[in-house]
Amino acid sequence: MNILVTGGAGFIGSHTVVSLVEAGFNPVIVDDFSNSEPSVLSGLKKIVGREVSCHVLDCNNYPAMRQILRDEKIAGVIHFAAFKAVGESMQEPLAYYRNNLGSLLTLVDAMLAEGISNLIFSSSCTVYGEPDTSPVTEQTPIKPAASVYGNTKQVGEEILRDVSAVKPLKSLSLRYFNPIGAHPSALIGELPRGVPSNLVPFVTQTAAGLRESLTIFGNDYPTPDGTCIRDFIHIMDLAEAHVAALQYALNKSESSFYDTFNLGTGQGNTVLELVKTFEKVSGKPLPYSIGPRREGDVVAVWADVKNRANYSAGKPGVRSRKRLRMPGAGSSVYRLYLRHDEPHRKSRSPGQRGVRPLHYRRRGERGGLCTGCCFAWPESRTYREDRFCC
Ligand code: WQD
Repeated sequence: MNILVTGGAGFIGSHTVVSLVEAGFNPVIVDDFSNSEPSVLSGLKKIVGREVSCHVLDCNNYPAMRQILRDEKIAGVIHFAAFKAVGESMQEPLAYYRNNLGSLLTLVDAMLAEGISNLIFSSSCTVYGEPDTSPVTEQTPIKPAASVYGNTKQVGEEILRDVSAVKPLKSLSLRYFNPIGAHPSALIGELPRGVPSNLVPFVTQTAAGLRESLTIFGNDYPTPDGTCIRDFIHIMDLAEAHVAALQYALNKSESSFYDTFNLGTGQGNTVLELVKTFEKVSGKPLPYSIGPRREGDVVAVWADVKNRANYSAGKPGVRSRKRLRMPGAGSSVYRLYLRHDEPHRKSRSPGQRGVRPLHYRRRGERGGLCTGCCFAWPESRTYREDRFCC
């Protein structure tokens, strides 16, 4: 069954492509590479053992989107393509509204015109705004968004809810918390263009020496150590949840419905805890300093994942239900990082050197977590002189 994955070369998109193939689907990517690298496609090919079809295209192109939906005989769509940096969205609101909402409107229009009803939408925990308390359930009241990015997701959800009420559209909004990590092969990972806006790629690139120092945005928040609290979820758990959501939509007999799901672990950790954990697991200090607060940040948000027991009313099947509730998805950031460490340890034999070119560490360094295990980045190739592969 052919599934269109918009933004399929991006961080969450590429990992979801892997999970889709593993589940027996045939993903078809649409991506304009505005914040991703074409090299992701070769990583995907190595992981799944075949080419993944990719159309280089802006999702705002209505005629082209319709043609792809028709020609590729698409049965469902997972829509990732969007801008996602909270700070940047406050500086470039028009670009965010145009890209995030324009592409959603174009896509839904094209889907309806082609008679395709299954849609999984990349939403975000930013839809909760600054919640009165955490953890948040899907029923937690939606507050005004703290950022333009968050507002594009709030409005995106409303568009889908309203369209699903009157048109044959089966849509699910998945509210992501903060995805981290990479596929165990490290052939794909978080690979933003330019200077990363998100925390984890900045941490990993700093550890690898590509960035001088991490700036922690504010340590005067009302939290135990003064830094913001987030719910860091492993990217593979997030990817698998998309497959579960898609199967749920495909299996639903109704011709239209709309629902929302939190995709988090149920545990909040501070930014400083994440940094300290990274230092502990990697065995090396991470240069960082404290800077001013970032505009648009909420203080604390993490997911309540316990409340979906009655989801079985929708008969998604036990497997889907479990995946969507994310039990045991990682009870701490530490565990999430350990998950990267495992494949790395297994492959640390001299014979493996050079086999996994995206794993780097300083020459002569021993032990600890290879910084490449958390991500992959193309500039790393220029460091080949100084570093060697695991
Ligand atoms: C996390 C924390 C920053 C960078 C956004 C989306 C969310 C999601 C992930 C999907 C904040 C602090 C950051 C840095 C820092 N989704 N930080 N120094 O804004 O929570 O969430 O990305 O794709 O939907 O809204 O993530 O990683 O930008 O920030 O101190 O250099 O790290 O202030 O407290 P955010 P983030």
